[in-house]
Amino acid sequence: MTSTGTEASAAGWDEARLSEQFDATIAKDQRIEPRDWMPDGYRRTLIRQIAQHAHSEIIGMQPEGDWITRAPSLRRKAILFAKVQDEAGHGLYLYSAAETLGADRAELTDALIEGRQKYSSIFNYPTPTFADVGVIGWFVDGAAICNQVPLCRCSYGPYARAMVRVCKEESFHQRQGYELLLTMMRGTDGQRAMVQDAVDRWWWPSLMMFGPPDDDSPNSARSMAWKIKRHSNDELRQRFVDMTVPQAEKLGVTLPDPELSWNEERGHHDFGTPDWSELQRVISGDGPRNVERVSRRRAAHEEGAWVREAATAHAAKQAARTQETARTQKTEGAAA
Ligand SMILES: [Fe+2]
Ligand SMILES: [Fe+2]
Repeated sequence: MTSTGTEASAAGWDEARLSEQFDATIAKDQRIEPRDWMPDGYRRTLIRQIAQHAHSEIIGMQPEGDWITRAPSLRRKAILFAKVQDEAGHGLYLYSAAETLGADRAELTDALIEGRQKYSSIFNYPTPTFADVGVIGWFVDGAAICNQVPLCRCSYGPYARAMVRVCKEESFHQRQGYELLLTMMRGTDGQRAMVQDAVDRWWWPSLMMFGPPDDDSPNSARSMAWKIKRHSNDELRQRFVDMTVPQAEKLGVTLPDPELSWNEERGHHDFGTPDWSELQRVISGDGPRNVERVSRRRAAHEEGAWVREAATAHAAKQAARTQETARTQKTEGAAA
């Protein structure tokens, strides 16, 4: 594990010099790696952000996972299965990235199921129809791409590298969602109505995924100075809106915002204000599915205890066997 700032000074290192080196690395747009000295605040911020990101990937398996058994065809079932499995993979990369900062994966899981750490507010909304699967791919994975592409240039190496692969998969997820919706829009009136209804329910919560408005986002400036974050919440939200409007037109759905219009002067779309009190409510645990999501994660963790015990016992047995083989070879070598 890399030394923290406090340990560094205890070891008599020149903390001012290390700090200068850190700042210079950031200024040159180079990467901070696990072995490098870093300020405690930088480490804490990253652990919090990466853990929250990992939790979101894992909790995010639930709303869509609910549809795996009910997908309307074998093809859709296989696609959805692969997509949900990708999200599990993203969670695992990210927990590993957090471990390079000295975090303990078991502690992070405890923090999630005990409600001490958060995950993206978006996964607290229900998925009553199959069109929700398409709209999640289109909006939620689309918003994830807007958020995560700049993270490929994040100053912390392991996080940035994990994002490169994650983003490739997210882009596939988005296209599968959009393709699903295109198919439904070519179907019956009932299917088209189902798509529009899902769009109406997911649009505003998707805009909230970028976090509160910039004026109300106290930690953003520091994260930007450390080059963890590259764009503000409002910039990313704007990027998402600009990207999604033409896609909605092509699909033939209406985004549920009467204030949405192209602003020639700004070269961007103007749009209405999300209900920030709803975001506050959902983040603080009072969304439509918060209790269910966390309790299901807790149950999965408890039901998986025997797997963890078996894996630990197996690893111990393997280690003992390797040790035994090494000892026998040594004895035989000495006898020969
Ligand atoms: Fe993901
Ligand atoms: Fe995804």
